[in-house]
Amino acid sequence: MSEPTLPTWENVKVEFEDGIAWVTLNRPDKRNAMSPALNREMMSVLDTLEVDDRCKVLVLTGAGDSFSAGMDIKEYFREVDKATPVGVMRVQRESMGWQWRRLMFFPKPTIAMVNGWCFGGAFTPLVSCDLAVAADEAMFGLSEINWGIIPAGNVTRAVAEKMTQADAQYYLLTGEQFSGKKAAETRLVYESVPRAQLRTRVTEIARVLMAKNPHVLSAVKLAYRRVKDMSWDVSEDYLYAKAQQTYSTDPEQGRKHGMDQFLDEKSYRPGLQNYRREDKK
Ligand code: COA
Repeated sequence: MSEPTLPTWENVKVEFEDGIAWVTLNRPDKRNAMSPALNREMMSVLDTLEVDDRCKVLVLTGAGDSFSAGMDIKEYFREVDKATPVGVMRVQRESMGWQWRRLMFFPKPTIAMVNGWCFGGAFTPLVSCDLAVAADEAMFGLSEINWGIIPAGNVTRAVAEKMTQADAQYYLLTGEQFSGKKAAETRLVYESVPRAQLRTRVTEIARVLMAKNPHVLSAVKLAYRRVKDMSWDVSEDYLYAKAQQTYSTDPEQGRKHGMDQFLDEKSYRPGLQNYRREDKK
């Protein structure tokens, strides 16, 4: 069967490689600043990749030496200042639409690969990815204070979600830059590696994810996002219900094979590795 043709995107590049969809914010001349046009395209990219089997893991990165310099100060702020209140709302809705609403709940695993500059608005999609790996040399900054605005676009919320409190407050208030190494220390990203090894490391993590049962992996990531805002009572109920729904709709019946291979065949140990998925049918 021929592979589906992708829509044409001007500001985002999508490439497939062995199950990974490399999604590259592609405005290197503008340090991949996120304009209204880019935001609209990212909504379309996520819609498309959600149902494209060539995407098993989505990696979000930036072209050239930047991840993203945040919101486009000219096209997202100055030019939109002239719009009507409804016009402003529409631009903001498209931005938030992908930067956290769609990305955080994208049904497949997502990894942010922070290759360089990462400022302001870029923190929202960064935190909305399930995992994040940065180059040691990448430079981060909550630069809003430096140009007289508060970190909106849910940046402050994203920072509160991931960074340690002391680090969040320090960097929000000072606007000081910090490296990829420091981003890992603050827990904003999972780890940092030398830039020369960044793609290899991200590919390695993506391969680990792709070896898992994709149906269950999707349920795990979505459940994690949901329960964080629930009480323990509600979460208990939700998770039992979600678990039941996940097993009963799992095309490869992973739970059964996982139990059979451990308890009957004694062929693997769940604490140490994954069940054999080739036995899944
Ligand atoms: N919005 C709009 N344009 C941006 C931009 C942004 N966030 N970040 C960079 N650009 C544009 C610059 O205006 C410049 O455009 P020009 O070539 O038409 O003059 C181009 O990208 C290159 O930027 P420049 O500043 O020359 O690159 P640099 O490599 O010397 O510095 C940064 C890179 C990221 C440190 C610097 O561009 C910067 O501080 N950007 C703003 C970061 C920010 O505060 N973002 C938060 C927004 S919420």
